[in-house]
Amino acid sequence: MSFRSRVIGCGAYLPERIVSNAELARRLDTSDEWIVQRTGIRQRHVAAPGELTSDLAVHAAERALAAAGLSGADLDLIVLATATPDNTFPATATKVQSRLGMTEGCAFDVQAVCSGFIYALATADNFIRCGQARRALVIGAETFSRILDWEDRGTCVLFGDGAGAIVLASHRDEGGGAPERGVLSTHLHADGRHHDILYVDGGPSTTGSCGFLRMEGKEVFRHAVHRLAEVVDEALSANGLAARDLDWLVPHQANRRIIDSMGRKLDLPAEKVVVTIDRHANTSAASVPLALAEAVGDGRIKPGHLVLMEAMGGGLTWGAALVRW
Ligand code: UT7
Repeated sequence: MSFRSRVIGCGAYLPERIVSNAELARRLDTSDEWIVQRTGIRQRHVAAPGELTSDLAVHAAERALAAAGLSGADLDLIVLATATPDNTFPATATKVQSRLGMTEGCAFDVQAVCSGFIYALATADNFIRCGQARRALVIGAETFSRILDWEDRGTCVLFGDGAGAIVLASHRDEGGGAPERGVLSTHLHADGRHHDILYVDGGPSTTGSCGFLRMEGKEVFRHAVHRLAEVVDEALSANGLAARDLDWLVPHQANRRIIDSMGRKLDLPAEKVVVTIDRHANTSAASVPLALAEAVGDGRIKPGHLVLMEAMGGGLTWGAALVRW
C-alpha cells in the first residue's frame, strides 16, 4: 500500500500595516522608481509591534484549516518553515500547535530561509508517504522586518512580513490509470559554500543577539537564475512532464526579474505565473504559500491543474515541488 499527500486547504495572512516605497524613500536614499524597476516591489506588509511570527502563522493556519473543513485536533503533524522564529527555542511550530488545540502528533520548525516552504512541504510529504502522518499542516511564516538593517537600502526595501499555510491529507495511491492528484515529487538542494552571500550576522552561538540580514544581491541573483532553472528541469523530467504541461508556476517572490526569467525559460505566458511581489515583497518562507493561497482563493488554480513551485534562499538552499491540484 502506498500513500500520497493531497492539498486540501490553503490560507494566508498579511499584517495590517502597509509600507509603500514612497514611505521608505522619505527616510532612505532610495526611490519608488529604483525599487520598482530593479525588483517589481511596490509595497510590503510589516508586523505590528508585539505581533509575532506565531501570530501570523496561526491566522494563516486557521484559514487553511477552515478551507479544509478541519480543526487543529484533526492534525498529527505541523511543519513550520521560518528563519524568524519567536524565540531561539522552542520551535514556533509548538506555539502554533497549542493555539490550534492540537495535542497529539508532532510539531517542529524547519530552517531553509526563502526555500523553507519547499523544504517543509517535502518533509511533510515524506512523513505522509511513509505512513507516519495522515493530516499535516505546512506553514511558511516570517517577520523579516525584525532582522532588517533599516539603514541598508540594499536590503531593507526588499522584504516583507506574512504567513501562508496548506493542509495535506494522506490518500491511497492507486497507481496506473488517470494521473494521480497530489504532491507528485519534491526536489531539495543545498550548497553551504555560498553561506557568505546571504546570511544574518548574529545568532545565539555567534553573537548572542539576533543580528541583521546581509546580502550580496547580484551574486544571489546569479545563483538564483541558474539553480532555479536546474531544479525546475529536474522536477519536470522526474515526472516525465514538459513545461507545456504546466498550468501554473508559483515561484518564490524575490525579484520580478528572476520570476520573469523563469517564465521565459519555461515559455509560459505571463497569465500562468502567479505574481505577488508587487504587493508582498519578499516574505521568505511565506512567499510561495501566500501566492498559492491567493491563486487558489480567486479560482485561478483549480482541481486537476499542474502546479510547479520553486524557491531559492540563504544557505544556499533551493528546491521545487510539483503538485497535481
Ligand atoms: O529570497 C532570497 C533570494 N534573494 C534574491 O534572489 C535577491 C537577488 N538579488 C536581487 O534581487 C538584486 O540583486 C537586488 C534587487 C538586490 C539589487 O539589484 P541589482 O540590479 O543587482 O543592483 P546592485 O546591487 O548592483 O546595485 C546597483 C546600484 C548600486 O549603486 P552603484 O554602485 O551602481 O552606484 C547600489 O548602491 O543601485 C544602488 N542601490 C540602490 N539605489 C536606490 C542599491 N539599493 C538601492 C536602493 N535604492 N534601495
